[in-house]
Amino acid sequence: MVTTSNQSEHKEQQLKQVITLLSDGEYHSGQKIADELSVSRAYIWKLIQQLQAYGLELESVSGKGYIWQSPSSLLSDNKFLLALKALDVNYNYFLATDSTNQKLKENFKDKALVVAEYQTSGRGRRGRNWSSPMATNLYCSYGWKTELPVQQMGGLSLIVGISIVEALERIGFKNLQLKWPNDVRVQQKKLAGVLVELNGDASGDLEVVTGIGLNINMQTEQRAIEQDWTSLSKLNGKPIERQGVLLTILQQLQINLEKFEQLGFVFFQEIWNRYDESFEQAVEIIRGKDSIKGIAKGVDQVGALLLERNGVLETVYAGEVSLRVGEVQ
Ligand code: ATP
Ligand code: BTN
Repeated sequence: MVTTSNQSEHKEQQLKQVITLLSDGEYHSGQKIADELSVSRAYIWKLIQQLQAYGLELESVSGKGYIWQSPSSLLSDNKFLLALKALDVNYNYFLATDSTNQKLKENFKDKALVVAEYQTSGRGRRGRNWSSPMATNLYCSYGWKTELPVQQMGGLSLIVGISIVEALERIGFKNLQLKWPNDVRVQQKKLAGVLVELNGDASGDLEVVTGIGLNINMQTEQRAIEQDWTSLSKLNGKPIERQGVLLTILQQLQINLEKFEQLGFVFFQEIWNRYDESFEQAVEIIRGKDSIKGIAKGVDQVGALLLERNGVLETVYAGEVSLRVGEVQ
């Protein structure tokens, strides 16, 4: 008898098969997909409905079939797994999960890479929701164990942001900017977010979970996103293969974490300031109901924001604050 867990594994395999078939960006009739999977056409209709409910941007055109206009290979195919071998990571892949940060926190390993095609509870800072449509963007978390003291970790989300920007520049993207402390933006629109979570272990080392959400092929309106956003495919006007993007970011992140361990944030201070979207701008720093206004002057040697108020330079630590560009009164 087939057990429930076997059944759900089987269903997952079928969902992956459908995505893989559609990843050529061509039309596929329901009948053709049904024949490939040796199931009924009605069952394929249900699988397609499920994928659409998970946010996969599929279109159905009568007489032609289904088409995925912004296709991408899954982050689990053999080509990708082979390429990942060179990077010495412990890979944990989910078609769907709650949150890759959560999964890595529950089962932390140094150099672990947790990737999901779809997150049901992807989150940003202060538990805010992170929109994670199926097989469309990048949702990943990387595990890093370090002897560095917790006091130095304020700069880490900035270094992850720098790693994303440097990786995307290597691929050919331009005009990328950083917004303190955890956003990658282009043309004043959010492209990626970083969520760093820390845990102390028994030996006194820190277990660091660095979560990255990067919009790659997202095209359609997302009701849940409360701010302007963009994606790599919107910027380029064509679908982007996600595998190369993930590998390049991971390489750059590994290089930069090593530099951070050896040289501290100070090595990255000037680099961050070069990409700073708010540099010399009037900004508002919001903490709960309170807010202060000033002129942003980049970051200091530990990654704290420098804010000029009434001619005096003040230091703002990331913690629970948000930065908004606005008028100084
Ligand atoms: P700050 O970090 O300065 O407080 P923020 O707007 O960047 O502000 P975060 O908590 O870092 O806030 O990120 C969550 C924000 O990101 C929410 O406003 C949410 O609407 C938005 N968001 C959710 N999913 C996405 C996505 N896929 N792409 C872009 N933005 C998203
Ligand atoms: C932000 O801008 O607030 C950070 C968003 C971070 C989203 C990523 S997606 C992968 C990882 N898992 C999560 O639940 N969050 C991060």
